[in-house]
Amino acid sequence: MKTIIEPFRIKSVEPIQFNTEKYRKDALISANYNAFLLKSDDVMIDLLTDSGTSAMSSAQWAGIMMGDESYAGSPSFYRFEKAVTDITGMPIVIPTHQGRAAEKILFSILGGKGKVFISNTLFDTTRANIEFSGAEGIDMICPEGKLPTVPAPFKGNLNTNELTEYILKYGSEHIAMVIITVTNNSGGGQPVSMENIQQTHNICKQYNIPLYIDACRFAENSYFIKLREKGFENKSIIQIANEMFSYADGCTMSAKKDAFANIGGFLALNDKELATKCRNLLIITEGFPTYGGLAGRDLEAIAIGLKEVMDEHYLQYRIRSIEYITQKLSEAGVPVMLPSGGHAVYLDAKQFLSHIPVDQYPGQALVCALYVKGGIRCVEIGSLMFGKYDENHSLIPSVLELVRLAIPRRVYTQSHIDYVSEVIIEVFNERHSIRGLKIVEEPELLRHFTAKLEQI
Ligand code: F0G
Repeated sequence: MKTIIEPFRIKSVEPIQFNTEKYRKDALISANYNAFLLKSDDVMIDLLTDSGTSAMSSAQWAGIMMGDESYAGSPSFYRFEKAVTDITGMPIVIPTHQGRAAEKILFSILGGKGKVFISNTLFDTTRANIEFSGAEGIDMICPEGKLPTVPAPFKGNLNTNELTEYILKYGSEHIAMVIITVTNNSGGGQPVSMENIQQTHNICKQYNIPLYIDACRFAENSYFIKLREKGFENKSIIQIANEMFSYADGCTMSAKKDAFANIGGFLALNDKELATKCRNLLIITEGFPTYGGLAGRDLEAIAIGLKEVMDEHYLQYRIRSIEYITQKLSEAGVPVMLPSGGHAVYLDAKQFLSHIPVDQYPGQALVCALYVKGGIRCVEIGSLMFGKYDENHSLIPSVLELVRLAIPRRVYTQSHIDYVSEVIIEVFNERHSIRGLKIVEEPELLRHFTAKLEQI
């Protein structure tokens, strides 16, 4: 059959609150043109993030009831630990309340002033945790990753030539680690090939640099490898994941993505000495090593979710549903990132709103327009998120001006997605009437979360 069906039935539903365009215009003004400041009840289709927004399965909810809340040595922890080790092959598993807590612990130990972290592309909070430690984060994305509308199979790859050139020029002693983000969230949810991970591993090994994987979307990346990389067609998702992780010294993961959990994360490691340091920090900031910042019931939900996500019927549906909306938009002439990524549709705001200069935040202007037109909430991944200022307070823009519509896992149906496409196409047809924005108030770090803007 050509139709790929949702591989689940719906047992419990949440109502959507409908509102009008006029209502949404006012809500947006009250939120200072920042979608993070909207009340979620005022949002009809929430595509702000795929993080913590998944629908859990009946098995996960049953697991929640089985959660053992012992302070130390809970059986829920051992089930969680086994699930992580089975996938990563890493013997040391440290639970945290979410991904960034794992990053904070690891980077506090390995980062600091003078250190450098190199990545295909760092996620916003990952970069912020690196910078907060005093270190510097450098993105080295492959050339095709910088061209949003030009298709290529593995646009999330790290630029290994640039990595080698950097090492030859500046040495390797100050490189705290190389982190490969799979899939590459800030770069369009694009996958990284096994070949690229292996090549990066070889370079890191030669120069004695630790290699880590930011594993939030490891299953989606593994499925892309199965679909697109020669030699992996007949491998199972767990075999592919095992190989991917075998090239790394450790990984951080937000279980709010590919583990279908509403909260949670972990740090997995091979190095016992480093693990002792991490656990010492964990006890101060998160909790005892067998629960981290989580309840026993969360550990159960994650352990079950990590297995469910590797089901190929699920992954086929997941990747196809993102491809479906991307294709619809592309056929209507909307500039979308191609090929489609694993968890989100990315609009190229620079092309979509070519009349708005980058220092008027075309991505954010588009986010606002989509909310007003259809009650859809999404996020800018461009100069509002990643822009910096030079000494004259002029904007140093981000490489890409994207708008991400992240699709929560197992939450929306095909008609929701059809509605989203219709709204985007309508906004595209009326794009010339959209105005740019200016920032009127912003914090020092991670400004996109709380900045206040005004229409120009
Ligand atoms: N790394 C990546 C690649 C991420 O996408 C995220 C979160 C994190 C780390 C941090 O994990 O939220 O559990 O602390 N991404 C979410 C998003 C928030 O919307 O893409 P966390």
